[in-house]
Amino acid sequence: MKPLIAPSILSSNFTRLAEECQAVLDAGADWLHVDVMDGHFVPNITIGLPVVKALRGEFPDAVLDVHVMISDPDFYAAKFVEAGADYLSFHPEATAHTHGVIQQIHEAGGKASLAINPGTPLDVVEYVVEDLDMVLIMSVNPGFGGQSFIPQSLRKLRDLQELLERHGRTDMRVQVDGGVKVDNIAEIYEAGANVLVSGSGIFKSESYADTIAEMKRRVGA
Ligand code: DX5
Ligand code: ZN
Repeated sequence: MKPLIAPSILSSNFTRLAEECQAVLDAGADWLHVDVMDGHFVPNITIGLPVVKALRGEFPDAVLDVHVMISDPDFYAAKFVEAGADYLSFHPEATAHTHGVIQQIHEAGGKASLAINPGTPLDVVEYVVEDLDMVLIMSVNPGFGGQSFIPQSLRKLRDLQELLERHGRTDMRVQVDGGVKVDNIAEIYEAGANVLVSGSGIFKSESYADTIAEMKRRVGA
């Protein structure tokens, strides 16, 4: 599956958000990764429904990959799809009704993704694997940009490939989020990731275009 690069706008300059989004899209970004944090599930507060809606209006053709790190995905997931999210990643650790939230996302017309924290086993995927459009492997503890990649995430990615093969779901989008840089992107891709989120790795680099081109070169995209 063709690997995709999804810059996380969390590391962009929020005072110039539209310009920053346009700049990474012009630089070759495939998706825009939008981090929603509620100050409860994670110890940080970022952006919410109005900003997702504004981004959808400003970038009608962009793929909005919305990652909600919030305590109540049961209440909010479908609302984010209605606001314009194409993909909606939520955390199974935040709900007793993983399957129900996936259903709600689909009913709202979105693509559903489970975001799995570093300490959470892959078991949560086992009985919803038929229903998912993507699995997001967190390679840092969610909450902040600029953290270091947790090395065990590579083993988790390989274990996920085995699970997906067992269930005939090698068509699954597999996203990795946290600490992805030019230097480690190749091994992350080889372990099974095909959507590579990078925040500080892109937005703190000198040239978005050079960085994204180099990332793509290293994963053969
Ligand atoms: C972390 C967020 C990530 C973050 C990635 O909680 O979900 O998307 O912005 O940033 P980097 O690439 O800097 O680790
Ligand atoms: Zn994220």
